[in-house]
Amino acid sequence: MSTGTHGPAGDGTRAVRAGLPDPVTYEPPLPGPVFAAHYHLPGEPTGPYTYGRDSNPTWTLLERAVGELEAPGEPVETVCFASGMAALSAVLFSQLKAGDTVVMPSDGYQALPLAYERLRAYGVTVRTAPTADDAQLSLLQGARLLWIESPSNPGLDVCDIQRLADAAHRAGALVAVDNTLATPLGQRPLRLGADFSVASDTKGTTGHGDLLLGHVTCRDPALAEEVRRWRKVVGAIPGPMEAWLAHRSLATIQLRADRQCANALAIARALAERGEVSGLRYPGLPGDPSYPLASRQMRRYGGIVSFVLPDRAYAERFLGALTLVDDATSFGSVRSSAERRGRWGGDAVPEGFIRFSAGVEDEEDLVADVLRALETVARA
Ligand SMILES: Cc1ncc(COP(=O)(O)O)c(C=O)c1O
Repeated sequence: MSTGTHGPAGDGTRAVRAGLPDPVTYEPPLPGPVFAAHYHLPGEPTGPYTYGRDSNPTWTLLERAVGELEAPGEPVETVCFASGMAALSAVLFSQLKAGDTVVMPSDGYQALPLAYERLRAYGVTVRTAPTADDAQLSLLQGARLLWIESPSNPGLDVCDIQRLADAAHRAGALVAVDNTLATPLGQRPLRLGADFSVASDTKGTTGHGDLLLGHVTCRDPALAEEVRRWRKVVGAIPGPMEAWLAHRSLATIQLRADRQCANALAIARALAERGEVSGLRYPGLPGDPSYPLASRQMRRYGGIVSFVLPDRAYAERFLGALTLVDDATSFGSVRSSAERRGRWGGDAVPEGFIRFSAGVEDEEDLVADVLRALETVARA
């Protein structure tokens, strides 16, 4: 039984069954990973499984599961990839050609400018504007694609996806939303008007910090087919083991997301009381600039909190004083992590800027660890 085709269900109920095949006696509920470069294929090369770069039964189940979470009860198509960047690139490079214009965020994930560079080299015009205040609206004239990242990484600004999508469609542009920070449980971009919901599933969607993966979900089968064809061309396919681990992880996505959100809110509240903290951002914190819009368009506010400590050395001492929080990049894991984002050089952030990813530890322990680390630095 798959909840995606059997009426409404809560997020947790849907997640534990998403993508599972109908029960077969003596078979496991989630079949193990299928390791295959090729399949027995006599005669005409047709059918669901032909060659390992084109299709794999383990991807099929994962893609079904992700689709059920992205758009419950709707006939969508999902294409999974070896990483989030592979998924992003598949949309950009399958949709854009020389002479086209794309509208991108100026404050999105730090590897996006690498894609801008490549697109420009291929003759695509790249226009950029910040996520806040729906600033991309003014750039849509003549565009072929609008790319939204909301909440933005690492600034946590939020834009009105429905408003931007409507305007983009009126201008004749397709719309893609990078949903990495929200995950399918936090936000449903297709319901908000997007043509492509894109994500790095390396983060909160799979949530254990042990694999890289990405996906693209579309309502329009023709768009999904173009994205799938791009995957075949560049071969950016997930390994069966990663795909299976991802599917296994989806069963707990609601538990993880709810705990991470609660922990992030508790951390944000604690940080709001501290004099050495400035620039605090969490979309779920009443008073945050993103809060009103996030409350309307998101189903959960996510597990990331951003804030600024006085300077680089202060931030490094803080990170070093934490005992329950790994000093590491990436986010969305069951284990809390934090990093001084400026160390990469790609984001327009102050030297003391911290991106904090709340895990699923006990709230009191996590808040106590953060406050103790701040006290340690303040006393030094
Ligand atoms: C918003 C966003 N999009 C895309 C990516 C790229 O994902 P991956 O590292 O899985 O390629 C990241 C990675 O941090 C991200 O934060």
